[in-house]
Amino acid sequence: MDGLPEQIAIAVQRLRAGELVAFPTETVYGLGADALSDAAVKRVFEVKGRPAHNPLIVHVSGEAMARRVAADWPEDARKLAARFWPGPLSIVVPKAQSVPAIVTGSGPNVAVRCPSHPLTLALLEAFGGPLVGPSANVSGLVSPTAAEHVREAFDERDVMVLDGGPCTGGIESTVVSVVGGRARVLRSGLIDAAVIGEVLGREVECADSGVISTTPTAATPAEAPGQMSSHYAPKAKAVMVDAGDVESVIGRATGECVVITHTKEEDAPTPLPPHSGRVGKTHVIRMPVDARGYARRLYAALREADAMHPELIVIVTPPDESKNPVWRAVRDRVKRATAGSAGE
Ligand code: TXA
Ligand code: MG
Repeated sequence: MDGLPEQIAIAVQRLRAGELVAFPTETVYGLGADALSDAAVKRVFEVKGRPAHNPLIVHVSGEAMARRVAADWPEDARKLAARFWPGPLSIVVPKAQSVPAIVTGSGPNVAVRCPSHPLTLALLEAFGGPLVGPSANVSGLVSPTAAEHVREAFDERDVMVLDGGPCTGGIESTVVSVVGGRARVLRSGLIDAAVIGEVLGREVECADSGVISTTPTAATPAEAPGQMSSHYAPKAKAVMVDAGDVESVIGRATGECVVITHTKEEDAPTPLPPHSGRVGKTHVIRMPVDARGYARRLYAALREADAMHPELIVIVTPPDESKNPVWRAVRDRVKRATAGSAGE
């Protein structure tokens, strides 16, 4: 651990100077900047190429710091923070005046989250203030789950990277709004609407892609500003295909294909190799069969697939296990990764 405090001291200096520092979290790496500095946040939008209407999550060291960026900290927020923080839950509350409009896409609410990574908690404490932290990728592309993914995306003169090892969760936090006395999941994640509902003592609505709806309601752009249908996408064309259709889909391709599959060989109707590897023009990436393992590996697998420059990336449809929130979140991300250029 030698050298880590020094890294944090350098990172704090950079942040104070309005520069960007990528930090590790339990979900994905974040692109950090001083959340209360208009100019620093502007830099984040520029470097990421992010549309200005898509608001940023503000990262805090705990509930006390969260209250500083919130105009109101409802009882629901208190309960959720007490149960899930530090952890992969972003809570949307009314924003305080001190939060620049650019952070929230000019909207009245702010998303706050206390991430669970010792290095980043130490950074937040040492900096002593909130940090914006969108996923540290170019807008629309695959989120980074390792420090090298961030280094590949940005020039180190623009972005210092704090290396905290690979992310254990692998997909972005659940975003839940508790504004106006309603509780609504705006983005699915490892923390499920049902568990949030248990903590709040009432049913929680789902306004994300509709993949995980107990009470489906269409979110207006103002409520769920960043939920573009195409997101988390590799550069190559990617499709989600049921296991039984993989053979015909790759048969129609003229070039190389990468198949990302979680199915065990004996369950798969296609003659794919039992391990990751190549047969003819098809390269197979075998995923963990458990939902958490799959989530942790998904973005790295998409990157590996992309690096082969295939004609097509074929992702075998993840299980539709309505009782398993992690599979539902995984399906949400795979849907977005394969949604073509319909979004941003
Ligand atoms: O796990 C995560 O949430 C990661 C790590 C780094 O913390 N961050 C992340 O940030 O995924 P980003 O910017 O890639 O995604 C933030 C999502 C977007 O869908 C955005 O629209 C939504 O959160 N969001 C942010 N602020 C919001 C707000 N005030 N109201 C509604 N949605 C908001
Ligand atoms: Mg993102």
